[in-house]
Amino acid sequence: MKDMTLTRRRLLAGMAAGAAMPALPRTLGATAAAMPVLRTEELSARLLPPEYPETRLWSYAGRSPGPELRLAQGARLRRRLENRLPAATTVHWHGIRIDNAMDGVPGLTQDAVPPGARFDYDFALPDAGTYWYHAHEKSYEQVARGLYGPLIVEEPDPPEVDREEVLVLDDWRVDPATGQLAANFEMPHDRSHAGRIGNYITTNGAQTLELAARRHERLRLRLVNASNARIFRLGLMGLEGWLMALDGMPLETPAPLTATLTLAPAQRADLIIDVIAEPGGEAFLVRQERDGGYAQAVFAVAGQAGAARRDAPGALPPNPVTALKAPGTARRLMLHMEGGAMGGMQGAMLNGRAADMREIAGANQFWAFNGMVGMPDAPLAELDRGEEVRVAIRNDTAFPHAMHVHGHHFREIGADGARGPWRDTLLVDRGETREIGFVADNPGDWLFHCHMLAHAASGMMTWFRVTG
Ligand code: C2O
Ligand code: CU
Repeated sequence: MKDMTLTRRRLLAGMAAGAAMPALPRTLGATAAAMPVLRTEELSARLLPPEYPETRLWSYAGRSPGPELRLAQGARLRRRLENRLPAATTVHWHGIRIDNAMDGVPGLTQDAVPPGARFDYDFALPDAGTYWYHAHEKSYEQVARGLYGPLIVEEPDPPEVDREEVLVLDDWRVDPATGQLAANFEMPHDRSHAGRIGNYITTNGAQTLELAARRHERLRLRLVNASNARIFRLGLMGLEGWLMALDGMPLETPAPLTATLTLAPAQRADLIIDVIAEPGGEAFLVRQERDGGYAQAVFAVAGQAGAARRDAPGALPPNPVTALKAPGTARRLMLHMEGGAMGGMQGAMLNGRAADMREIAGANQFWAFNGMVGMPDAPLAELDRGEEVRVAIRNDTAFPHAMHVHGHHFREIGADGARGPWRDTLLVDRGETREIGFVADNPGDWLFHCHMLAHAASGMMTWFRVTG
């Protein structure tokens, strides 16, 4: 990493200060709720540097990222969604192996909650780890507007660290003329290419998050990629440590962080890091881009937390995920991904009948799973509760896709049969076929979709049913 150009990210070139926007009235309202309230509301936030006006966002509880929800493993999360937005919404609790009725998928597990209405979420948290919550109605728009927040489930016996930082990464697409979010959330070009990629990157809403640290301090970093489509590639400078968990689930053995960490949309990573930079110096979480490294977060190092580095941490305790059985017994499914720009798809089923690519594009749709554009009436599979399934995901498109399974975690099954870490979102690069396996132990109807949210909205969405 030594020869990397490390510059603090400036605002994108050519951004000119725009006219100030009228202040947005904040909706206020009293509630006599038996449950803690999670209110969605509009927000005018200081997102950009001071020469720009405040940016109008959508928020949970007047903040973006929304408030950190932190509970103990095994506890129940109870929140009354009060929707004060001008649009219907739902909350999806990403990565939680949740009661299906609480999964927050409009049209599948609940109706979208109209403006002024409410919905009570109440469910158990079976697994410790780093999760997040986000809107699932028009998520390509609502997540881009800022409707997401971190959800932390604590281990009963957490690892020994000096402190913990939750870092929620996002990229925003800002119109340089106005300082407001670019208004077209349904651009055909985004949908057919890499999705809505932003031009202003933040951590916890700050362009370069600045944190204090001491030499030899041990931190747990919980990273969440809340962006619509950006794949973050991250490295460390002045910090050394271990990858402890992915998508909430502990690795069997902590993995030393030597190579770049790839964090696709919706993925999370738990790190334990030691500050090795000298007092008076700086350490960095580095974002690697084609033209070099950028500071995603800066740690100003002052003082010492100890005389020397500590021993390597042991693994986090495993979560109670149902183990895979012997190979050979599993039900085998195929998910064939096609379409998009430069994908060569000729046609597919659209709304129940065959359509050619021109007609599909005319409907602002671009992608197909197994020859079907968008959410099919029939599930990809009906699985008996407890049945083991293997899904071969074949990416026949020109883009990578972050495939997310609701309600379950899965393991990747390598060509040699080796089993990868438990995850809920898998990045499948173009041209790749990757196999995942899991035991369908959570009854209900579950989405299976690309978490590049523009892709999900333009064809890359299916579902499966677990019965019994
Ligand atoms: Cu994080 Cu269906 O989503
Ligand atoms: Cu995709």
